[in-house]
Amino acid sequence: METVLSGIRSTGNLHLGNYFGAVRNFIKMQDENNCYFFIADYHSLTTHPTPDNLKNSSKQILIEYLAAGLDPEKSTLYIQSDVPEVLELYLFLNMNAYLGELERCNSFKDKVRQQPNNVNAGLLTYPTLMAADILIHRADKVPVGKDQEQHLEMTRTFANRFNNLYKVNYFKEPEAYNFGENLVKIPGLDGSLKMGKSEGNALYLMDPPEVIRKKVMRAKTDQGPTEENQTKSQEIENLFTIMRHVSTPETCEYFNDAYNHCQIRYGDMKKQLAEDIIRCCEPIRERILDLSQQEKYLEEVMDAGAAKARANARKTLREVREIIGFSNKRF
Ligand code: TRP
Repeated sequence: METVLSGIRSTGNLHLGNYFGAVRNFIKMQDENNCYFFIADYHSLTTHPTPDNLKNSSKQILIEYLAAGLDPEKSTLYIQSDVPEVLELYLFLNMNAYLGELERCNSFKDKVRQQPNNVNAGLLTYPTLMAADILIHRADKVPVGKDQEQHLEMTRTFANRFNNLYKVNYFKEPEAYNFGENLVKIPGLDGSLKMGKSEGNALYLMDPPEVIRKKVMRAKTDQGPTEENQTKSQEIENLFTIMRHVSTPETCEYFNDAYNHCQIRYGDMKKQLAEDIIRCCEPIRERILDLSQQEKYLEEVMDAGAAKARANARKTLREVREIIGFSNKRF
């Protein structure tokens, strides 16, 4: 069985785009792989040095991923800061990570632009911490979006450099876990191609039905088709795309035919879409609310995940220390 590791950025609630994109693939992944999922809370300090409520945001992420279907019986779920061993590996990797290559990293250059007054060393070495996350579990595969591909490439560089420097064949090169056609992109209701938190157009799994109705009814539309089989504008295409994920094929076909015959009423389509989104999110939302009350269970899940992850991390560190020459015995 292959080891697959995925880091979860520790900001924000899950929205429909996350769910139909990565999260549903994560849930499938657990059945065929030895999966690790962790909440990257150390990483969040690179942009938020004085976080509002680190514990609560980790808790909320955990709740939402569990509600969406991550299964602690199948996967190892943990919070990064519960496995401080990763910091020792981060230190070792940093000793052989060069300023030039870190400065050339696109995510670093973006952050320098975004936060010119806080260009800290953690930001510069973000890729080394990420490499440590991956290498500490000797992951074979890592599901990454486009924006993380360079980080994975750097992880391979660091792994190889370590092997070459210490003349070992210890770390293997992690590969991208490819979701292939299953990687869907959910567009926004504002005509944009992507639903996202920072885009301000997200429908959250947590949103109560009345909020979903309101957001969907406000979705951008156009003047309506004037010719049969007219090409759809982006806004309308987006409504249909979302509909294909939450509604039955018959419903999609019904509105598509109506569009093609210039008989569509966007208000009706939106009403239907809102109800179908609600139906799709409802069970997850109920589980979120239910899990929010189960502190003890959440605690147990985190403790068990941390224990498993730490045992594995310690083993790696013991071996790495030995390779570098830090004896695990005194002399
Ligand atoms: N950098 C990732 C992101 O922004 C989060 C992350 C941290 C990660 N460590 C990781 C992802 C290790 C995969 C593997 O989404």
